[in-house]
Amino acid sequence: MIRFEGVSKRFPGAGRAAVEALDLVVPEGSVCALIGPSGCGKSTTLRMVNRLVEPDRGRVLVGGADVARGDPVLLRRRIGYVLQGVGLFPHRSVADNIATVPGLLGWTRARIADRVEAMLDLVGLDPAAYRHRRPHELSGGQRQRVGVARALAADPPILLMDEPFGAVDPVARDRLQVEIGAILRRLGKTVLIVTHDIDEAMRMGTRVVLMREGRIVQADTPERILAHPADADVAEFVGQDRALRRLALISAGTLAVPGAAPDAPTIASEASLRDALALLLATGGERLAITGDGSPAHLTLAAIRARAAQASD
Ligand SMILES: Nc1ncnc2c1ncn2[C@@H]1O[C@H](COP(=O)(O)OP(=O)(O)O)[C@@H](O)[C@H]1O
Ligand SMILES: [Mg+2]
Repeated sequence: MIRFEGVSKRFPGAGRAAVEALDLVVPEGSVCALIGPSGCGKSTTLRMVNRLVEPDRGRVLVGGADVARGDPVLLRRRIGYVLQGVGLFPHRSVADNIATVPGLLGWTRARIADRVEAMLDLVGLDPAAYRHRRPHELSGGQRQRVGVARALAADPPILLMDEPFGAVDPVARDRLQVEIGAILRRLGKTVLIVTHDIDEAMRMGTRVVLMREGRIVQADTPERILAHPADADVAEFVGQDRALRRLALISAGTLAVPGAAPDAPTIASEASLRDALALLLATGGERLAITGDGSPAHLTLAAIRARAAQASD
């Protein structure tokens, strides 16, 4: 768990505080997405967890302990950190990069080699093909996968991510958000992720925290923020197409009704209702057959329409 208690930070010479009286709890195993306009204090908040920034007032607790009391170097070894587009050692192989913290912790060579292999598998890179490459031989998306593998290598309970996919092209970014989000939830990591991309926040966060001028404006589940924005500014920030964003958060399987739809296009049960709607619009149909749920099932355009219209809370 990460807990902020009345945390404030004003940089020398700054007119206003970067972060002001911030109270926030990130429960064990949850993914908290900090979102808001540039300069609103997201990165400062994140960097107070691993003590790259020290607060002027208040406390930050990790696993119940005040981070200000321990050795910052030891603290950082227990916290994975993923940054936008940087952080990999350019002259070291992918394997050596992933081995950084395990090496510092004195693991044996054999254990490190096993771990590197497992981490590459985890993030979807074939170990045989990628282990010996250098960062410049990877695409932007692959580099960010290695960054995540490196951050997770020593199995830290906490992961901090600052605009992790900001430098990646949009197609790769979509895949990374979905895949890495699923991995983090499966591993049960406690994650604080900073982003200015509303789709990224909604896809990856179990909770979304909206910040403005150093303060929290709204903190809630993605579904409830989309359904009930705290004010007009939040509503504008989360966008005009809120109904569609909500559909992106619901799986097709939730609207499944029993019965085969033999001639209809198929969609996976875990695909989103937004994808289902896109497929219906593209094919001009009224029904989709759902795969992956065992017994035959389908869903209808009418059911998606009804769901989109419904206030979700
Ligand atoms: N190291 C620093 N020194 C001085 N001012 C800083 C420093 N880091 C951030 N700031 C200022 O603090 C405010 C919040 O910055 P930041 O937390 O980086 O915002 P965000 O990540 O939301 O874009 C901004 O006004 C920024 O200019
Ligand atoms: Mg930032």
